[in-house]
Amino acid sequence: MVKFKKKSLSGSSKRWIQRHHNDDLVLKAKSLGFRSRAVFKLDEIDKKIKFLKKKDNILDLGASPGSWSQFLVKKGFKNILAVDILNMDPISEVIFIAGDFTEEKIQEKIKKKLGKIDTIISDIAVNTTGNKGLDSFKTNSITLDVLSFANQNLSNGSNVLCKFFNGELDKNIIDYAKNNFSKSKIIKPKASRQGSKEMYIYCCK
Ligand SMILES: C[S@@+](CC[C@H](N)C(=O)[O-])C[C@H]1O[C@@H](n2cnc3c(N)ncnc32)[C@H](O)[C@@H]1O
Repeated sequence: MVKFKKKSLSGSSKRWIQRHHNDDLVLKAKSLGFRSRAVFKLDEIDKKIKFLKKKDNILDLGASPGSWSQFLVKKGFKNILAVDILNMDPISEVIFIAGDFTEEKIQEKIKKKLGKIDTIISDIAVNTTGNKGLDSFKTNSITLDVLSFANQNLSNGSNVLCKFFNGELDKNIIDYAKNNFSKSKIIKPKASRQGSKEMYIYCCK
């Protein structure tokens, strides 16, 4: 029988796992039944700007593993459509589409399933490669796609919140928001990891 040697983790991977395990928010999310600590960012942002309205049809982009959708269900939202390139374990009351948001056929599917879109929340971030410039370029170019989709499909008074990174293309995102929406605001949640370049931009059409 062929025996496989267990691959040992590098020092930085071990440190990452340690930090992750020690992270209070990870433990808190777990104890409350949420799939990710990301839930605390959405909670914090909504407490600040109060943009989530219960009767809204909500599109949750980059939804997996699902804590933002879980949060919306817990708050009593009924019409939630979640989309991610990765699969997501089912959440009752949430419709899920597996696919790449940047593809036209996925955007058409979203419009068909949700009908009128009132609010878009996007936590999309590409898999990190270790090259921070490239990672923020790739994520931020999807964020620009999200803003353009929102601009074309939201009616006046509707909202979009998306993640972006300080770095490549961030100025394009801020300018696009200013030029195409009636209101925009940049938010840095305290629940983001220390040292992270992650930011959120909220825009109202
Ligand atoms: C930070 S995670 C989202 C966490 C989620 N908000 C939660 O509360 O569990 C970012 C997600 O964006 C997804 N993603 C990246 N590129 C995407 C794309 N082009 N279309 C859809 N989802 C994408 C990733 O697969 C990943 O699951």
